[in-house]
This record gives sequence, structure tokens and C-alpha cells, in this order.
Amino acid sequence: MKKNNKNSLNIFPKSGSEPAKVYKRICSELAMDGNVHLDLGSFSTTIMNSYADKLILEQIGKNFIDYGEYGQTKKIHDRIITILSRLLNVPNFKSIQGTSTLGSSEAIHLALLAHKWNWRKRQQSLNLSIAKPNIVYSSNAHVCWDKFALYFDVEPRKITVSSLHSYPLEEILENIDENTICVGAIAGNTYTGDIDPIEELNSKISEINIKNNWDVGIHVDAAISGFVLPFLKSPKPQWDFRLSLVRSINLSGHKFGLVYPGIGWLIFRDAFFLPKDLIFSSHYLVKPIETFTLNYSKGASMILAQYFSILEHGISGYKKIIKDCSKTAQTIREKLRQSDCFEVIDQGILPIVVFKLKSNVSIDLYEFQLHLKAKNWMLPVYEIPGNFEPEKLMRIVIKENFNPIMASLLCDDLIGVCQNLNNHRL
Ligand SMILES: Cc1ncc(COP(=O)(O)O)c(C=O)c1O
Repeated sequence: MKKNNKNSLNIFPKSGSEPAKVYKRICSELAMDGNVHLDLGSFSTTIMNSYADKLILEQIGKNFIDYGEYGQTKKIHDRIITILSRLLNVPNFKSIQGTSTLGSSEAIHLALLAHKWNWRKRQQSLNLSIAKPNIVYSSNAHVCWDKFALYFDVEPRKITVSSLHSYPLEEILENIDENTICVGAIAGNTYTGDIDPIEELNSKISEINIKNNWDVGIHVDAAISGFVLPFLKSPKPQWDFRLSLVRSINLSGHKFGLVYPGIGWLIFRDAFFLPKDLIFSSHYLVKPIETFTLNYSKGASMILAQYFSILEHGISGYKKIIKDCSKTAQTIREKLRQSDCFEVIDQGILPIVVFKLKSNVSIDLYEFQLHLKAKNWMLPVYEIPGNFEPEKLMRIVIKENFNPIMASLLCDDLIGVCQNLNNHRL
């Protein structure tokens, strides 16, 4: 923070400037950034219909929290909660509960707080001792799970995965005890897109609960797949509220929900699972406002943009987009497999291609990444945290606007750059 404190750019200007000049100046600086549409590792939506843009811009000054002034926006918000609850198959349509958030991280933190409260209330009601609570999840969970444990003082029982696609089911089960607030399951992990065996987890935890008179539930992190799995044609594993112990699910509107960054959703199985004492009622504005969020103020635009996407596409539209993205992903996988350079890692469920360099290729993935960057493609390089030989992987997220022509250009560059670099090494 202190490094550049003498640089004039870091000083609040004494006087202002013409808006047009300010705009130009900021834009010229931002031209140094990468092109968002070529940021292929990111799950975030980068383009919406121009009418969505118009709606967002027109509503941009609206603070969502002011329900008194913007009651209709709140009604639309609640309508989205109902729509998503139905999409995720809540058992009781008359007892719906959920909230919009800034993204899946906030949704996960809020969900896990509710689980923590419910665990404590149960311990108290049964006159059981209140020890430090814990949460059990696998090491390929997103970092926001670790953040929750640290910020909200819960012991993270993070079970290390032992290979790229393994799920440590037995160890997860062994680590559950009377102080477990819930088990975290991931429907589409950040690294490989794998979906945890949630159905099996559900039945095994049910047995453990019955045997011990515990009440451990499951939170499903569907940040990536929440807007994909319901629209997939192929048979898919059970993962949503149809499973009896799934008590909360988060999904990212700004990923395959087809909305720009800044929107996530938390849906509860039943209103019963959100403890009343976590809902704050404040009366600063026109009328009392009930909130269950980490932040107070937030823009209403992305909530309205989510409603736009839902109405614009409908179920058939989401199905078509996911089908097209999955088809493009499959074409990329096939081209990469045919080359001598790459090994495809993902299991082909979500529209995400994860791959690594074959062992016969004598280049480093970071170097490969730099050469791709020179061609404007941005692809992440990462390793999966686990107790196995670290492997560097790359990911391509196929989004709505990444058409087959772009995919073909990308494959030509991936293969061309790899072969060129490799030939120079030999
Ligand atoms: C599986 C998973 N969970 C949670 C998150 C956090 O989501 P957000 O960026 O919406 O906070 C991500 C982000 O990519 C993710 O991949």
C-alpha cells in the first residue's frame, strides 16, 4: 500500500476535470487491461442483450435495500427467489426463503451461518454442551469455504482429495460429529467441474444421523452448475432439494445465470432453515426493512438483470444456450485430444474444458500461458490442492458468446503454440 504513495496518481486531485476528459483518461488507462471476452478461465458473464444493458443503466442508481421506496423491485426479487426455489425443487412451495447476494461467496457465508445457528439452537434445546462447531468439506472446495471457517470461527475439517477426480467420501463421513454444523458438497468444483456424489452423501449422512440422533444437513455449492444442471438433457446425478438433507443451495447468477458480475442467490429448502434471529429489522428508511445479508446497501440493477435473463431466455432458452456451450466444449475436447499436446481432464458434464500438457511435451504450462497471452487469450493455470503429485491444469469456460468460430481459432492457437514451443525445445 505504501509503495507508490508519492505518485501523483495516488493523490486526491485538488480540483476536478471535465467529465469527457476524465472518461477518456480512465478509458485510455483501462485499454491496458485484457479483453474480458477472451478471459476464458473466468466463469463470469461478459455480455448481455442490449435491452438488458438499457435496463441496468436505467436502474443503476437504485439502492435495493430501500424496499419502502422500491417496493416493486423487492417484489421482483422475491419472485426470482420463488422461481429459483421451484427450479431447485423445494418440497414446499408455501414456505420459500432465500436472498440475493453479491455472489456465491456471500451466499455460502450466509447459508453456513444459518447452519451454525441451527446447530447451536439444537444443542441448547437438547441441553448438550456447546463445543467449537466444525464444518466438513473436501479440499477442492472454493476458497470462500475456508474464509467462512476463519471469519466465523468454525473449525474447518477440510478433507484432502487424493487424486484429480476422487471424492473422499469415507473420510468426510468419519469427520462428522455432534458439532458438525453441516457438510459442504460441491456441484461442479472450480478445478475440474466434477460434481460430488451428493446423493450418496445424503443417504450416508442420513444413516449417521439416525444412528447418533444428530441432525447434520448438507449445503450444496452450485455456484457453477446451479443454472446448468437443471437445463441439461443428459441424465444427471441427484443433487438438489429432492435429496432430504440438502437444506441450502447457492448459485451464481453472474456465471451461467447469464448476468454480469455482482449477483448470487441463496435458496433454503424451507423457510424453517433460516433462523429468525439472523434476520435484522431496521427502520432507517421509509418502513421497517428485514434483511439477511452481509452488506446493507447494494445496487438493484443486477437483480433486475437476473429477472431479465430469466424472462428473455425461459427454460427453453437456457437449455439451448447450455446445449450450444456443451457442444462447443465437446468440439474443443475432441480437437485437443486429437493433438499430441494435451490431455483432457474434465469429465464432460459441464461446459468447461480442463486440460493439461501431455508428459511428452517439454514446455511449462506457465510459459505456454504467456505465449497464449501474446495472442490475447487469457487462460488460467492452477493446481488442485490435494495429497498427490501436483499437476498444472488449464481451464476454458465456454460461455454463451464464445461461438464455434472463436473455439476453432482458440484450438488452432493452443495446438500451434504448443507444437511450436515444443519443436524449439527438441
Ligand atoms: C465452486 C465455487 N464456489 C464458490 C465460488 C465463489 O463464487 P463468487 O465468485 O460468485 O463469490 C466460486 C467462484 O468461481 C466457485 O467456483
